[in-house]
Amino acid sequence: MQNKIEELGQKRALALQGGGTARIENQHRKGKLTARERIHFLLDENTFEEIGMFVTHRSADFGMDREKYLGDGVVTGYGTISGRLVYVFSQDFTVFGGSLSETHAEKICKLMDMAMKNGAPLIGLNDSGGARIQEGVVSLGGYADIFYRNVQASGVVPQLSAIMGPCAGGAVYSPAITDFIFMVEQTSYMFVTGPNVVKTVTHEEVTSEELGGASTHATKSGVTHFACGNEMEAIGYLKRVLSYIPQNCEDLPPVLEYIANDERREALNGLMPESVNQPYDVREIVDELVDPDSFLEVHKNYAENIVVGFARLAGRSMGIVANQPAYLAGVLDNSASVKAARFVRFCDCFNIPLLVLEDVPGFLPGTDQEWNGIITNGAKLLYAFSEATVPRITVITRKAYGGAYDVMNSKHIGADLNYAWPSAEIAVMGAKGAAEIIFKREISTAESPEEKWLEKERLYSDIFANPYRAAERGFVDEVIEPSETRLKLIKGFKMLENKTVNLPRKKHGNIPL
Ligand code: HXC
Repeated sequence: MQNKIEELGQKRALALQGGGTARIENQHRKGKLTARERIHFLLDENTFEEIGMFVTHRSADFGMDREKYLGDGVVTGYGTISGRLVYVFSQDFTVFGGSLSETHAEKICKLMDMAMKNGAPLIGLNDSGGARIQEGVVSLGGYADIFYRNVQASGVVPQLSAIMGPCAGGAVYSPAITDFIFMVEQTSYMFVTGPNVVKTVTHEEVTSEELGGASTHATKSGVTHFACGNEMEAIGYLKRVLSYIPQNCEDLPPVLEYIANDERREALNGLMPESVNQPYDVREIVDELVDPDSFLEVHKNYAENIVVGFARLAGRSMGIVANQPAYLAGVLDNSASVKAARFVRFCDCFNIPLLVLEDVPGFLPGTDQEWNGIITNGAKLLYAFSEATVPRITVITRKAYGGAYDVMNSKHIGADLNYAWPSAEIAVMGAKGAAEIIFKREISTAESPEEKWLEKERLYSDIFANPYRAAERGFVDEVIEPSETRLKLIKGFKMLENKTVNLPRKKHGNIPL
């Protein structure tokens, strides 16, 4: 027996070396951690249990039968993060560049099946040259097996992808289906076709970093939710996101202990600018409303006219969607609508209540917006809110104009509680524009059109530039002082704790994609 145990020890030691020390050093020289180091920093100490350490590929073409590495380029297993079970796969770039073979894919699929059966998050640490070129179509089949499971798992267990090296070609579609993507500046990239193909086809000269680096995807495409300075930062963000979300769709988010205090926030009474057209940073309101340092912004540098993220209120997780008056006046456009819609749907999948802070002048006009589908994209947000069954509260802080009033979690589309601050203006449009349209003839024929316009603007403003018309109808449940908002939200979400909604029976809806 002793011999056999020694043999096991030797095999284990060999597996731990991956592609060997030279390649490990090469990985470090590039500023990257190895697959196992990443797992070490991700999981609670000594909790990792590996599955499939001795798997090798089955390929014989191109002399591959003479080159085998235990584990075949991906480390898979389970462990805990803050004591909670997670499944993790970590691609090993030191073995055939982390490329995906048939057996590499099988290991990932086995893990995904376990995550689904046992209801725990799946974390992918991606660092791969793509399909194992020597294997041809079986590798492509392996990718498709993973994509299929990503879709089956969507909305069942949270799926998180960290990109820590190359991720190119069709390989990008697995992370793309998952819930959140974390990328590392300078050492990771994602694209469907790389710079060489781009140059051949479109004659554009572009570097990998420009085409598909972390900053590009965090600002231009919105593909990544977090652009991180280094791998440790990415791991930190990943853990933080997990701390707000439940293990699966049947579970509730973790609750932190909270001792109720004086929940009034006097500072809120002074945050709104005097002029309705003056910008302010909505994050200042968020910070006053939620538990200290609990706000984690998602998609921070993409579609900045809307702010989304996780926070805690009296220890409970919630998703926040807030128009951002400091950027494009907080207008809703294509990117903002899609960004918010996807976040709302994530929260609804995983039982995370939604808080909406509304200060929106409407949808952005223009050919660019119309030709790029603001009708369909705006409808995505409307659809996402309307189908969300989690507790939903809206606070209208200032403007709630036009279609955007309806879309931003209005009472009419199923919000549970709608509050308005006294500064709220709930109308079809701003008073200036409204006066110009409905009093056009009077203004144009007036002795002093400017004065007439001002007079009519004031008239419209007196009637609609307030929350009381909406409150008379019950479209707003209560007009509240800003300083009492936090208290109202804590009580409101507590009251909604056991909310149940039965949706009409259907296969699935047809969200306007
Ligand atoms: C097999 C691969 C590989 C691959 C890299 N390697 N990619 N082996 N299949 N796809 C091996 C290399 O031979 C090398 O082996 C080691 O990994 C490291 O690669 P290097 O090229 O030395 O590293 P680096 O200079 O850092 O460049 C990394 C890279 C490059 C940019 C990823 O290797 C590369 O371009 N690889 C090919 C990428 C590609 O075209 N993949 C197919 C894409 S299509 P040794 O033995 O020297 O260490 C695709 C379709 C998916 O993925 C479709 C799903 C539907």
